[in-house]
Amino acid sequence: MTEPRKKITLPYLFEKVAKGEPITWLTCYDYPTAYLQEQAGIEMILVGDSLGMTMLGYESTLPVTMDDMIRHSQAVRRGAPTAFVIGDMPYMSYQPSVETAIRNAGRFMAEAGMDAIKLEGGAAMADRIKGIVDAGIPAIGHLGLTPQSVSALGGFRVQGKDAALAKRIIDDAKALEKAGAFMILLEMVPDRICQLVTERAENCIIMSLGSGPHAHGQLLIYHDMFGLYPRFKPKMAKVFGNAGEVILNGLKRYHDEVIAKQFPQPENWFSIKDEEYNELKKMLK
Ligand code: KIV
Repeated sequence: MTEPRKKITLPYLFEKVAKGEPITWLTCYDYPTAYLQEQAGIEMILVGDSLGMTMLGYESTLPVTMDDMIRHSQAVRRGAPTAFVIGDMPYMSYQPSVETAIRNAGRFMAEAGMDAIKLEGGAAMADRIKGIVDAGIPAIGHLGLTPQSVSALGGFRVQGKDAALAKRIIDDAKALEKAGAFMILLEMVPDRICQLVTERAENCIIMSLGSGPHAHGQLLIYHDMFGLYPRFKPKMAKVFGNAGEVILNGLKRYHDEVIAKQFPQPENWFSIKDEEYNELKKMLK
């Protein structure tokens, strides 16, 4: 039997960065997938509010509530006991005030056993990050394409393509690092901007989602990796296996076999001994 993996901790993540070894990170929202990700050695798991789209079928992440996030975070924690699991703060769980942010970040830790939280936004959210970190909760920033602001950003598109916006991302990253974020995710930012942010980071791990290879590690959305999200497939998502197709074919076969009376077969049901059955028949007479 192989030894269970040791718990992934903050010092472990910083050691990986020091050694120049990329960190692996995926989204996950449920127990069986968390179990598989843990077995595969994935180091970090994001219980993203993207679950509003991938799991609940909403058009955006905005309707997701703290209670939704806590329920899914608990399931993921049960499936991946040693991964570094991050609770993603949903829309309006941190924007209203520093106190709201601290209280909701605390819920992720106390009720779901998360290792850290993530929230979206730059310098304007630095006081939320500081408040959360001062409360003893590790915090991750999220810059570039921030889905909770998709309307203000003009859609799901690359951010920081012109010099002025790229400078803003670089300044925002510094503001979040100064506020105490131990990690920043850059989503859909040009590769060289991500490289500049990574080179300038002093005590902060920079992660990339569609922002190129120069960060300290990579994040992907699990559903995009396996053909499990029917509405669109972002360019940055490599499909590592078409689970959606495999499942669809299995479902069609099940449908056809039931109709054709090929399923179930004796190995799929349970029987009763003849003597018990005969006794029962007598009782029913
Ligand atoms: O909710 C999520 O999965 C995210 C990713 C898009 C980074 O925040």
